[in-house]
Amino acid sequence: MFEWMLPENHAIAILKKDHTDVKDLFDKFEKAEKTAAKEKIIEQAVTALKIHAVLEEDIFYPTVRAHVGSQVMNEADEEHHVAKVLIAELDNPGGKNDHRDAKFTVLAESVRHHIKEEENEMLPKAKELDIDFEALGERMLNRKKELLAKGIPVDAEHRMVAKANGKADSPAAAAHRKVSNPRTPASKGGRGTRQKTGSQVR
Ligand SMILES: [Fe+2]
Ligand SMILES: [Fe+2]
Repeated sequence: MFEWMLPENHAIAILKKDHTDVKDLFDKFEKAEKTAAKEKIIEQAVTALKIHAVLEEDIFYPTVRAHVGSQVMNEADEEHHVAKVLIAELDNPGGKNDHRDAKFTVLAESVRHHIKEEENEMLPKAKELDIDFEALGERMLNRKKELLAKGIPVDAEHRMVAKANGKADSPAAAAHRKVSNPRTPASKGGRGTRQKTGSQVR
């Protein structure tokens, strides 16, 4: 059956629709110029990705894991983990950070790659399963509704980022600022010292 023939509540159709929506947001971000427009897109994409990850990790992945195989599924788990660290760092609307655009761009590249792997490898293999994909899809849609109404639980990556510094930055970005402003005295709080030393402690 062609994908466009899948019913709307088919689990795979739901995931692919989410993929299309988030890729549209990534495309919109590339064209956006104003900070306010970019921030709105970041917020929408972060919420959509957090919900999508819960649906996959709690419902879809466990259902298809044994059939798809651990190699593909473990890679997907790790791609989720990396994306979720960036999501946690971006998940503070209005956050000030000169790497925020770059962080979102890297998130978009990584998610586009992940979507390709899901759509080219995982989903076609999962589709071989003889299960009720519409019942599975209904469970996913109900969970999505619940998350939208009650909020998305804090995940391990959000706790990890909060514990690290809560300021959404990477050690590489801090090192770059230090090198480009070598004479900025630490006590004067110039650009080279924006990132407090303590915030790099893991
Ligand atoms: Fe996905
Ligand atoms: Fe995924």
